[in-house]
Amino acid sequence: MQDAGVIDAAENTVSGERQKKVFVKTYGCQMNVYDSQRMADALAADGYAATDEIENADLVLLNTCHIREKAAEKVYSELGRIRQLKAERAKSGRETVIGVAGCVAQAEGEEIMRRAPVVDIVIGPQTYHRLPDAVRKARAGGRVLETDYAIEDKFEHLPRPRPAAVRGRGVTAFLTVQEGCDKFCTFCVVPYTRGSEVSRPVAQVVAEAERLAESGVREITLLGQNVNAWHGEGPDGRQWGLGELLFRLAEIPGIARLRYTTSHPRDMDDALIAAHRDLDILMPYLHLPVQAGSDRILKAMNRRHTAADYLRLVERIRAARPDIALSGDFIVGFPGETEADFEATMQIVRDVTFVQAFSFKYSPRPGTPGAEMDGHVDEDAKGERLQRLQALLTEQQQAFARGLVGRKSDVLIEKPGRAPGQWVGRSPWLMPVILDEKAGEIGDIVDVRITRTGANSLFAEAM
Ligand code: 5AD
Ligand code: SF4
Repeated sequence: MQDAGVIDAAENTVSGERQKKVFVKTYGCQMNVYDSQRMADALAADGYAATDEIENADLVLLNTCHIREKAAEKVYSELGRIRQLKAERAKSGRETVIGVAGCVAQAEGEEIMRRAPVVDIVIGPQTYHRLPDAVRKARAGGRVLETDYAIEDKFEHLPRPRPAAVRGRGVTAFLTVQEGCDKFCTFCVVPYTRGSEVSRPVAQVVAEAERLAESGVREITLLGQNVNAWHGEGPDGRQWGLGELLFRLAEIPGIARLRYTTSHPRDMDDALIAAHRDLDILMPYLHLPVQAGSDRILKAMNRRHTAADYLRLVERIRAARPDIALSGDFIVGFPGETEADFEATMQIVRDVTFVQAFSFKYSPRPGTPGAEMDGHVDEDAKGERLQRLQALLTEQQQAFARGLVGRKSDVLIEKPGRAPGQWVGRSPWLMPVILDEKAGEIGDIVDVRITRTGANSLFAEAM
């Protein structure tokens, strides 16, 4: 899944001196962003209001990411700062509960408990519905470690957000439909931190999407570590895949745009490709990681497809939806990667053309097969390859953006821009679009003409 950076999840601070406040800091992917929101919602039911000021928080939650190196170290250094904060607050008689959630919590829970006495709660992604209980125990003086894979359904037990809380959150939203992964790519910690693949039932997903639509959401991005492996029993009694689910969600009044991320090439089935052909509201943008272009490396990564398989798949998707824009993830310097293997990655990028990409140096993750392999590539070579790859990807990205200038596009109006009079919308390709005038109300989808490109955005005028 794409890296969402570090986000301070903030919501309206509810005034009132006695109201307890929670500060959530989110690292990593969109699923963590979604989870942070659900945790805040669960705590709201217990009287906690979200705040973006850590100094005022009675409860501080770090929602952590373990996908690449230094993640755990970042958490420990953040905890160092939080320890001081907790001590300061204690001087004035205020109690602060500290919780670590997310994938570092899952992978290193016991060590966090040992190394960081300041932490009151460690809670893994599968047990977020137990968070309010854990907070109550911590407030009573206990320390809580919750990293089992819960047998009950987390989503069934998480309270539904109140419509009023959802309403202020904007016109785009994430919705987790699938979690975990059974693919076991040899570089990846996800199967260990998020557990095995689980799909949420159709009725649950539809109900949540309906609630989002009622709260003014126009664009929903379905989330899953392996989102296109989603499956479930449809109301017709047949087994549905993501394609069928998308058709069902498209019927919900108010929903104008759908997306999904992240997909595995092996799970792009015919019904999903047909959805790209037949469903206008499915945006012509697909994040489809290939990771590498060399068959030898793909095999060592246990990706279970070749470069040619990927190219054929892209051809089929483009035959169904010719204007689809592709985005990808890449890893350079996987163990055993030679210069020729890396050149094959460059070649697949040239063959496919990506409008957006996330590329990383291979980072050995404890407990994964890749970390134990021979032939680790030295850091300088990784750095040099990453630079070459990123130069090519940036060139493709810029060429795509330049190609849009002068063209018409539909834009979802999201919020006022930074400069007075400016408005920001979202293009079908996720790139933000900046408008100099108010071309519609927030939540409207309007036609604009792209006038020029910015660093990571497009400028446009209303038509
Ligand atoms: N090292 C480097 N990159 C990784 N990714 C996942 N695991 C690793 C790792 N050990 C990248 C993959 C994946 C994205 C979310 O992060 O490209 O698609
Ligand atoms: Fe990790 Fe591979 Fe599963 Fe993606 S498909 S989450 S890269 S193991």
